[in-house]
Amino acid sequence: MTGEAAKQGFTVGKTVDELAPAQPHTHHAPSLPTEPDRPSSIQAVRAIVTGGAGFIGSHVVDALVARGDQVTVIDDLSTGKRENLSRDVELVCRDVREPLADVFAEVRPAACFHLAAQADVRVSVEQPHFDADVNALGTIRVLEAARPHGTAFVFSSTGGAIYGECDGPAPEDSERRPLAPYGVSKLGAEEYVSLYGRLYGSPHVSLRYANVYGPRQNPHGEAGVVAIFLGRLRAGERPLIYGDGRQTRDFVSVADVVRATLAAVGHSGAYNVGTGVETSVLELYELCCSAAGARLEPELAPARMGEIERSVLNPGLAARELEWSAEETLEQGIGAAWDALATVETTA
Ligand SMILES: NC(=O)c1ccc[n+]([C@@H]2O[C@H](COP(=O)([O-])OP(=O)(O)OC[C@H]3O[C@@H](n4cnc5c(N)ncnc54)[C@H](O)[C@@H]3O)[C@@H](O)[C@H]2O)c1
Repeated sequence: MTGEAAKQGFTVGKTVDELAPAQPHTHHAPSLPTEPDRPSSIQAVRAIVTGGAGFIGSHVVDALVARGDQVTVIDDLSTGKRENLSRDVELVCRDVREPLADVFAEVRPAACFHLAAQADVRVSVEQPHFDADVNALGTIRVLEAARPHGTAFVFSSTGGAIYGECDGPAPEDSERRPLAPYGVSKLGAEEYVSLYGRLYGSPHVSLRYANVYGPRQNPHGEAGVVAIFLGRLRAGERPLIYGDGRQTRDFVSVADVVRATLAAVGHSGAYNVGTGVETSVLELYELCCSAAGARLEPELAPARMGEIERSVLNPGLAARELEWSAEETLEQGIGAAWDALATVETTA
């Protein structure tokens, strides 16, 4: 724990509900859901989740709300959706590239989960300036807004896009070899996140997510392949596989990512959030077929330029320091994503 963090009452490894409690607040009705698992001695806290209407962010919001925390979401709904959030969650529809001091001054959050981003690697190649604007400058805006409140900061970074080509499970101190502007903008943002921790004392942590998949997944994100395969199988259409399908990724379920994200509050530094297991795109497709109970012959297309052959993260540091490790198997996680897809369609 940093000395400054201790002074502010933050403790490494504490969950949000053990951090600064929510103060009485006139603008938001403090009608927190009662949560049976929360000991009565622990008060709810306020948290801001940027990008909370997106795929991963909305699951983080759900987990915070489920334990009684008071959550404010900042999201411009560029890829996120209001429907991803339960009705009682406050949504501030703003762009993180704008000043946000007023929102933070009103909420005074104990924790900020910064997940808003331009998360499409291909967009970053086509519009590198836009990617840097949202991911690097937008992160500085959020850091600046959080600074006066001693807020514990959790930043959603990326493992795969930062390390580039891997020889085996990459630890945090691996050489950084991004192959797209997205990896560089996230790396730059990480540096600002740790700088703010050093300069201003409150805990600032970057989580380098592997390829995250699960319900509500946006097919354009880093692990969009799971959403694409399941969507195609559902529609009875043949999916497209680029290259020979032997390229590998480290697929981690959104449920596991949410647990890591909450466990990281109060920590500082950078942690990989992955499984350490490589799965080829072909293997992944077979698992999706099993979940769907159907198999269509995939179409093969030429490999895309700049595509990484092997990407896998070493999750050892998170296991030791965050006491986190992935629990859900790929079969379980893909099954949950398939079930969620079916539920959305039948209730739509
Ligand atoms: N999905 C993955 O596999 C993966 C892997 C590594 C890192 N990440 C990171 O995790 C975070 C969440 O990713 P996701 O997959 O849920 O993507 P997502 O696109 O579903 O979520 C991003 C959210 O940010 C919002 N947003 C985008 N630009 C914004 C802006 N300028 N101002 C305000 N809101 C804005 C979007 O509307 C959306 O709700 C991102 O930071 C992403 O880079 C994701």
